[in-house]
Amino acid sequence: MKLHALLAAALLGLSATAPLAARPAMTNVYGRDCQSLNGKWAAIVDPYDQGVPKEIFLNRTPQNDTEFFEYAFEGGLRLEVPGDWNSQRPELEYYEGTVWYARHLVVGETVPQLPEGACVTPVAAPRDGERLFLYFGAVNYRCNVYLNGEKIAAHEGGFTPFEVEIGDRLHEGDNFLAVEVNNRRTPDAIPALAFDWWNYGGITRDVMLVRTPDRYIRDYFLHLDDDSDRRLRLDVELSEPAAGTEVALRIPELGVEETLRTDAQGRGSLTVDVRKLQLWAPEAPYLYDVELSYGGESLTDRIGFRRIAVDGTKVLVNGREVFLRSISFHEEIPQRRGRACTPADAQMLLSEVRALGANMVRLAHYPQNEHTVRMAEEMGILLWEEIPIWQGIDFSDAGTEDKAREMLREMIVRDRNRCAIGFWGVANETRPSEPRDAFLTRLLELGKSLDASRLYVAAFDNVYYKPGSDRFEMHDDFAQLLDVVAVNKYMGWYAPWPKDPSELRWEVCTDKPLMISEFGGEALYGQHGDPKRASSWSEEYQERLCADNLAMFANIPNLVGISPWILFDFRSPYRFHPVNQEGWNRKGLLSDRGLRKKAWYVIRDFYQAKREEQSRK
Ligand code: GCU
Repeated sequence: MKLHALLAAALLGLSATAPLAARPAMTNVYGRDCQSLNGKWAAIVDPYDQGVPKEIFLNRTPQNDTEFFEYAFEGGLRLEVPGDWNSQRPELEYYEGTVWYARHLVVGETVPQLPEGACVTPVAAPRDGERLFLYFGAVNYRCNVYLNGEKIAAHEGGFTPFEVEIGDRLHEGDNFLAVEVNNRRTPDAIPALAFDWWNYGGITRDVMLVRTPDRYIRDYFLHLDDDSDRRLRLDVELSEPAAGTEVALRIPELGVEETLRTDAQGRGSLTVDVRKLQLWAPEAPYLYDVELSYGGESLTDRIGFRRIAVDGTKVLVNGREVFLRSISFHEEIPQRRGRACTPADAQMLLSEVRALGANMVRLAHYPQNEHTVRMAEEMGILLWEEIPIWQGIDFSDAGTEDKAREMLREMIVRDRNRCAIGFWGVANETRPSEPRDAFLTRLLELGKSLDASRLYVAAFDNVYYKPGSDRFEMHDDFAQLLDVVAVNKYMGWYAPWPKDPSELRWEVCTDKPLMISEFGGEALYGQHGDPKRASSWSEEYQERLCADNLAMFANIPNLVGISPWILFDFRSPYRFHPVNQEGWNRKGLLSDRGLRKKAWYVIRDFYQAKREEQSRK
């Protein structure tokens, strides 16, 4: 183990061999020296968690006549990484429990004798001074990582990246890597015991080996300075404390060549004035090639600069009022009944967003993969990204709060250089209480300490129609701390219309921008029926419901945007109806086969009109 890791272990009171918890991944992994570990991995399904007592992470084979082992990684199940296990084997569709993944990292020239069918990755031995990290884009929901029989990392949280240093743990020849993944739901988890999406388990995003110099740029944040649209600010953090170290910033198109010096903690900042800056906007998603270099390492990125702000009850992008023509999608390819995880998946989802005429996506209900975020940036699609604090979270559990804070940190550190992200979401449909208000207030403070350049939002479902006052109201103190208040309201579905939709009035946080973050109803594609009967589950009912909601939204004085729930039908264990649902939530504007329902055209026409209205401003 390297000196710095030994020191860290000593400081933390850990033994040198104690398992080091995984840590948030270094920024912009895809711009670094990466080797993919994607592909087929050997796997063992372990429903009773016997893998640890059997020590299968040692991957032993019989050495004499009397030895035998009741496991082997070779010759059995192999699972595709990245990918959930539920969609790869019919017998795993509902599986919640432990699955072990394994592969061999073969270092150097010697080719070890490995069992037939072993999953192998050749790895060049780290050069002098070079460091090697194992990076996971996401593992749902918790995992332990073992290398050569030793547990080296643990991580909890199914939707954010983490890394563990392994260079000093590899030896020449065969290195056995095992990952124990468990997606069992628990009351102290985030999300907790029940949620309206499929609990896809597995190594669901890219896995990579990342090589860095001995000291490297661990994190950076490059964005418009708070005070000027002609000034950029760069904050950098090196991997180790190192005073006086020079880090260079180059943006060739802007003629920027600046250098900063780090302080004793290895941190440094600079601001640079630029003559003319093409700001990023949905209608003109301009990105600059950026290079950060230090000590022989150079990191490249494509970064856009824009300003998103609130002015009274308006949302402004680069000083211009914008109406948020949003839509939501889960990280799921319905045709594959599995997690979306590749650039091609991102392309499919975002091309349907573009076809609808949307300029924003609420990435429901968790940070989605980096391919989707980066492609949205290239396409000019604003993003709302949130951590999965969804309904029944145990706000009085200190451990749960620690997990929420780690998830928020991992999400913001991964994506704060991604200008498409305009909103950080901190909760969905939580109810006022002292523990919840305190928990979320502290979470908001953490978020703003990491990134004060974006708008903070949460989705509420405690807006009610009050017959006495004849309007919709909400009473939730936490809402006052947010930049934008979002409301999930299913009028015409979970709540019948109290009167003609066009006559309904809202008075909800009227001093803040308000967004309708979810509305809609279910329809089975191709099923036609009475537009006035919810239980028809018909396209006509969903079509009329959307039109009725749009009529009501027209009277919300502080409305800044809407986001129909949801782009595609999606898998959910909540949805039992044997004909209309079959384990699918049917609120999609498109079916699980990607076929457009009648309601799709209602939203498309509304967005087209909004877009023309915006272009006339
Ligand atoms: C809630 C929740 C969604 C859910 C939706 C529904 O508003 O936020 O995650 O899918 O309702 O009931 O369809």
